[in-house]
Amino acid sequence: MSANGGMNPLLKEWGASFKAPTVYRVSNGTLRIQVQLMSLIAFAGLFALILCVYYSHSTYNHVPAGFGPYESNIYLKSLGKGLMYNNTYPLTPPVQTAQGIQYRIGIISDLDTNSKAPDNKSWLSYFKKGYLLWNPTFDQISIIWDSEKPTVLKSGYGLNGRGMELSELVVFDGKLLTVDDRTGIVYIVENNMVIPWVVLMDGNGQSPKGTYLHINVMFSSVVSFDSDLYHLRLSSGYMIHESGVWSEYHQRWFFLPRRSSHFKYDEVTDERMATNVLLSTDSNFTNVMVTYIGEVIPTHGYSSFKFLPGTKDRVIVALKSEEDKGRTATYITAFTLAGTILVPETKIADYKYEGLEFI
Ligand SMILES: *[C@@H]1O[C@H](CO)[C@@H](O)[C@H](O)[C@H]1NC(C)=O
Ligand SMILES: *[C@@H]1O[C@H](CO)[C@@H](O)[C@H](O)[C@H]1NC(C)=O
Ligand SMILES: *[C@@H]1O[C@H](CO)[C@@H](O)[C@H](O)[C@H]1NC(C)=O
Repeated sequence: MSANGGMNPLLKEWGASFKAPTVYRVSNGTLRIQVQLMSLIAFAGLFALILCVYYSHSTYNHVPAGFGPYESNIYLKSLGKGLMYNNTYPLTPPVQTAQGIQYRIGIISDLDTNSKAPDNKSWLSYFKKGYLLWNPTFDQISIIWDSEKPTVLKSGYGLNGRGMELSELVVFDGKLLTVDDRTGIVYIVENNMVIPWVVLMDGNGQSPKGTYLHINVMFSSVVSFDSDLYHLRLSSGYMIHESGVWSEYHQRWFFLPRRSSHFKYDEVTDERMATNVLLSTDSNFTNVMVTYIGEVIPTHGYSSFKFLPGTKDRVIVALKSEEDKGRTATYITAFTLAGTILVPETKIADYKYEGLEFI
């Protein structure tokens, strides 16, 4: 807000777009911000690509321990040629049952500082699996989690005493990948273990702190990025994104912002700035649309989402996580692009799961 109490016009437009009833086309002012946002993603994507090329050409001397002769090189070479990309998705073929189509799903935890293992030498994350059943006739969805305890994934890689703060789960080239937003390590999840694959570095790459980027088919199509990397600043306000997905079907980007505020970023109030908006934009960022999904629950912010396979990208399954004065929780929900809620927010756990995928 400016001193005269009048809102910055840019902010006003943005605010107006959020108050609009259903789908709203935001005008050029907001667009500029979207473009900034996208260039940042593009930059990050480009950086990831450069990094990967670097790794694929580097000798073993340059490759940190644990990244040795592993498949990464084979992978990157095949990607470099643009050949042999394995587009298996989901990894477990959906099964047609009397009740509908059954998919295997998985979620991965970010325990923040609680990730440290009792031995103080490694870090842990929970990998919880279940089934999602979709009845296309009635457009009904039910989710059943495996009754056994989540698999514990363990890694010896940390940075400044932190590690395995996993914040996305994504199928890429027939593998299940997850990203540690502390170290920037992208792991392959296989046989209930994590195998380091590549490291994504923060900023200009000189900083020792890794950052998190979520990887899509084209390295330039970065699926997501996090608050450490990017706070969208809107005059006095800001917006934080943790999840974004490119839809081949719609040829549009979709974003479920984690937080949005018309006020300056503040660590305490930020916990209560969750949104109920679904943003989408075409590949040129010339057309931005906003859809409202249910009511705002101020502490429940989106952390990850995927389109339900087989719905022509009409149905979204999303995770929301809560951090409220040290208390954490995770919820799952599903809705259509039109804003019809198919699964109301349902609590999964008392800690944060921040990655969701059809595995
Ligand atoms: C790990 O660190 C904590 C806190 O510093 C300490 O209380 C605990 O004894 C340590 N555990 C081991 C196995 O060294
Ligand atoms: C593609 O990935 C799937 C899932 O991991 C695997 O079963 C299949 O063998 C892979 N195909 C090729 C050609 O590597
Ligand atoms: C993007 O812009 C170019 C040039 O203005 C236009 O030719 C193209 O159709 C646009 N693409 C989309 C998806 O709107």
